[in-house]
Amino acid sequence: MNAGLISMGKYVPPNIVTNADLEKRMDTTDEWIRSRTGIEERRIADDSINTSDMAYHAAKDAIKNAGINPEEIGLILVATVTPDQPFPSVAAMLQEKLGAKNAAAMDVSAACAGFMYGVVTAKQFVESGTYDYVLVVGVEKLSKITDWEDRNTAVLFGDGAGATIVGKVSEGRGILSFELGADGSGGKHLYQADKLMMNGREVFKFAVRQMGQSAINVIEKAGLTTNEVDYLIPHQANIRIMESSRVRLGLPIEKMSKTVHKYGNTSSASIPISLFDDLEEGKVKDDDVIVLVGFGGGLTWGALCIKWGR
Ligand code: ACO
Repeated sequence: MNAGLISMGKYVPPNIVTNADLEKRMDTTDEWIRSRTGIEERRIADDSINTSDMAYHAAKDAIKNAGINPEEIGLILVATVTPDQPFPSVAAMLQEKLGAKNAAAMDVSAACAGFMYGVVTAKQFVESGTYDYVLVVGVEKLSKITDWEDRNTAVLFGDGAGATIVGKVSEGRGILSFELGADGSGGKHLYQADKLMMNGREVFKFAVRQMGQSAINVIEKAGLTTNEVDYLIPHQANIRIMESSRVRLGLPIEKMSKTVHKYGNTSSASIPISLFDDLEEGKVKDDDVIVLVGFGGGLTWGALCIKWGR
């Protein structure tokens, strides 16, 4: 029996900040941001919207789309590096807000790869028969740890949440293979002091190398070839990094998810938000083979090869 992603949910805050808005705040240009990152605008949550609020909206959406009751959820995993506070966890706050009274709850800290870590953990519990349904949320309010004086990082990030219910799916569908990894020696290139600190060039080199390789690894582990892949959903950090993994797989441009232009880099939320939009737009259909691949602070990475559908 395979576990799979049986539904998706999404929330992005309503406030749109365009590159033109940033031009007024710092020494940057729309042209620089577009050409170096592919980002045109991002959503920034105001003070009234915290991480747990965004997580709640996305989770509610995923639960409704799965057609289940919150009391059927056995475990809540929230991937975030921007929780409301160190504890209680966002997952525990969600457990209460959702009325998921039978669920255990914890946060997962693996930065932008956090959603992949959450889904792989959920898969173990579902396939072992421990829980029927696990709620996994990727959510970030990166704006609260962004240094708005630092043009090297401030232009890159956005806020948002994506969620999924992991449960049993029919024969042949679901998570076919996965890879998770970490290299703590690279932690110095991307970390939070007071604000988010980044060595962009080092992260860029790591991301280009790791995203393509992890994608290839999960395709091989699934016993497939790149020709059999229908769609790629890379972490939406930077269009140039995303393009390098697409080219490595030899996929045409229409077979790669792209939401970075409208949401920026939303860290652990970027892959589930993209998958949600792709499903809405009919870009991912039942029985498609899709590859999700992410990387982030830690350094961490993770990839999944999935045959879509319940
Ligand atoms: N506007 C205008 N100029 C800028 C800006 C800006 N917003 N930011 C940097 N510059 C300048 C730099 O100061 C530099 O100027 P200099 O040559 O006079 O020193 C110049 O632009 C070029 O800088 P580079 O670092 O060479 O630019 P590069 O092409 O490498 O792009 C970028 C920078 C976009 C940050 C890239 O390195 C990148 O995307 N790295 C990966 C970042 C990433 O994905 N991080 C998230 C990880 S996920 C997580 O866990 C949160």
